[in-house]
Amino acid sequence: EESKKIVLVEDPSLPKSIRTKINKLLPLRSKRVHVSGWIHRLRQQKGIIFIVLRDGTGYLQAVLSGQTSQTYEALTLTLESSIELTGTLQEVPEGKTAPGGHELIVDYWKVLGAAPSGEEAFANRFNEKSDPSILAELRHFVIRGETASSVLRLRSHLMSAFRASLVEANLLEVTPPCLVQTSVEGGATLFALKYYGQTAYLTQSSQLYLETCLPSLGDVFCVQESFRAENSHTRRHLSEYTHLEGELAFITFDDLMTHIESIICSTVDKLLADSESAALIKQLNPKFTPPSRPFKRLAYTDAIAWLNEHGIQHEAEDAEGNFIRDATGKPIMVDHAVGDDIAEAAERRMTDILGVPVFLYGFPAELKAFYMKRMPGTGEGGKVFTESCDLLMPGVGEIVGGSMRIADHDELLAAYKREGIDPTSYYWFTDQRKYGTCEHGGYGLGVERFLAWLADRYTVRDCSLYPRWPGRATP
Ligand code: 4AD
Repeated sequence: EESKKIVLVEDPSLPKSIRTKINKLLPLRSKRVHVSGWIHRLRQQKGIIFIVLRDGTGYLQAVLSGQTSQTYEALTLTLESSIELTGTLQEVPEGKTAPGGHELIVDYWKVLGAAPSGEEAFANRFNEKSDPSILAELRHFVIRGETASSVLRLRSHLMSAFRASLVEANLLEVTPPCLVQTSVEGGATLFALKYYGQTAYLTQSSQLYLETCLPSLGDVFCVQESFRAENSHTRRHLSEYTHLEGELAFITFDDLMTHIESIICSTVDKLLADSESAALIKQLNPKFTPPSRPFKRLAYTDAIAWLNEHGIQHEAEDAEGNFIRDATGKPIMVDHAVGDDIAEAAERRMTDILGVPVFLYGFPAELKAFYMKRMPGTGEGGKVFTESCDLLMPGVGEIVGGSMRIADHDELLAAYKREGIDPTSYYWFTDQRKYGTCEHGGYGLGVERFLAWLADRYTVRDCSLYPRWPGRATP
């Protein structure tokens, strides 16, 4: 009852406090500062209140004692309330630890937005061990957690490092549209929508637009959301993902793979050279070691042989693509043959055994998109292969898909025909081959997959701010 009457006033004789963010505190030791944030941890002991304050940039330990811990607000304080703390920053005594190595001795503070107590208290709504469907519903709370926020913070540094590496490699950033009327990776995974009386789609890839930039801007890249209506509930598929794509002119297939490798290695080097990013990687993936160059290159046909040598089989399918089962209902497993798609499970097992990044290259044309350049000659049984590559990473599998593109006009027309594509809406893409064609190639990297590899996350769902997968577009 007494405590209700204590009203805290700021002592006007104290030095004026400096407003700051938690990650900028180090040079302000022994100074009077004020910091706003959210109560991440709260503990009361013998009339003293210990708070860990979180402001997104870091964590700060704060101590409220004497009058500051006796007010009504102090005694009814709740986790996740937003507050402003004012006090003197002190280095923690020898032998004690605190984030940043200091703590705030609070002399004045106020509540900005109190979070509920009781039934509605944060800890009753959410804990990190809740059921996955509850965690998905409460993603807006999950991202307040230490792990989720570290992944997102690392993601931000990753994007900056990628951009810096690409700019250093003389690629220019462009922003292609999300609303499109052409498919890149096949009609089956397009999200269609009504568009002023026409049909439009959400983009699957900005590749075709990047190709049109080459004669205008030179080598280019973009960071754009891509959308895939894939009914895949796997740990590496999202319905919307961040797609980092690059396109380069006057290169060979070998140049393309070397470029992808150097962008990835330069990005990793930049992250490890930055103390905050390096600390995040260490926190999330303590065993991380940067990949060594050059990356292993494995021809598709050799990969098929490798899978068979290692007894890695796949489920047999009938002509319609349905799995064939034995009398007991178990799927029948068969060896891989040239022409087979290497499915996710087999690819993952191979990558995990090899334990290093691998460029798998030279896929059969029949498995790949219409625009891919063909390798000269044919293989066994007249098979045609393409100058295409996937970069596979241990633990995740494919993180990059790239290829050289058909540069010849008539060859492209033949490719549309073979794939049953109506070339009408692709007129602008075809024009690239008509008005000064060039040998060129490019790639797309799935940012969430890359981050899953870098930060050792089990699923890409943990690497997206608000992940979308079949059935989920909330929050
Ligand atoms: O292999 P994909 O489909 O290639 C393309 O879209 C090319 N047009 C890119 C280009 O050459 N410019 O996709 C490229 C990468 C994949 O390697 C994967 O990392 C990621 O995009 N990706 C996905 N990530 C999350 N969820 C999905 N559903 C994804 N589909 C592809």
